[in-house]
Amino acid sequence: MTRPVVFLARRIPSIGIKTLASVAEVRMHDGGLPPTRAELLHGVIGCSGILSMLDDRIDCQVMDAAGDQLRVISNFAVGTNNIDRAEAKRRGIAVGNTPDVLTGATADIAVGLLLAAARQFRSAMRAAEDGSWRTWEPLGWLGYELEGKTVGIVGFGRIGLAVAKRLYGGWGMRVLYTSRHSREASLDGIVAERVSLDRLMAESDFVSLHVPLTEETRHLISRPQLECMQPHAVLVNTSRGEVVDQLALIEALRAKRIFAAGLDVCTPEPLPTEHALHSLPNCLLLPHIGSATLEARNAMALRAATNILQGVQGKPLPFPV
Ligand code: DGY
Repeated sequence: MTRPVVFLARRIPSIGIKTLASVAEVRMHDGGLPPTRAELLHGVIGCSGILSMLDDRIDCQVMDAAGDQLRVISNFAVGTNNIDRAEAKRRGIAVGNTPDVLTGATADIAVGLLLAAARQFRSAMRAAEDGSWRTWEPLGWLGYELEGKTVGIVGFGRIGLAVAKRLYGGWGMRVLYTSRHSREASLDGIVAERVSLDRLMAESDFVSLHVPLTEETRHLISRPQLECMQPHAVLVNTSRGEVVDQLALIEALRAKRIFAAGLDVCTPEPLPTEHALHSLPNCLLLPHIGSATLEARNAMALRAATNILQGVQGKPLPFPV
């Protein structure tokens, strides 16, 4: 019997590749960088499954290129904004992702960014490295403490809640959140208040973004929202770069209308080295490493591969979107 062919858009942890290879012929795009559009369109031809990364745009053209036997698209991520889900649904192609297993890793990075931005890690580290650190400075690199402050969580899903738990439990922070649904029944022992986005932006010392990227959330944080923030406030983004209007953020950081930003995501990724964000000492940028732990990536590989395994057989996905 011929085995289904699966296009794997990048090398993933071996547990995932082995799982795929147990049922399918794996066509892997190797080499570290994403497939070019032409490589993607060519690579998927005749595939029953596509295991995509968050930067592979899987749209109608890719689905057409794959052909009618395509049954499943499995994203190696929890966010699926790179996939035209409506089109997949229309064609009866299942779409899966890797929820839960990266919640803790991503929440840790959000908290790390929050602390690092509030305490000016970026300019302090630069000074330590480049020789501009000349003495212990009574007024040097002054930042803000977390204890007892207010954090505003924009988007109170799994990761938002995990961030809130860390900050509530660890630093006794007051938690505000925005969410389309009230989460009172599932707050897991923390006290948190659901408020409007305007109120959250105005009252929070720290704002952390955890919404998926959709048409409604693109540029959710733009000039009016940034203008509501307090001058000592810190903005953290571990969701998707486009949730923030980056030009407005640059303006706010440059004019010191907010204290700092800690970003794990930006637009585009990677950000060109000459980009204005890199020149701002109050902006700390990481290369989208929210889920980059061995534990999370192994578990993501297994989930993404299991989705393919089930999907190519026409069975319901264990982790559908
Ligand atoms: C996701 O899964 O959407 C994350 O951004 C990956 O780190």
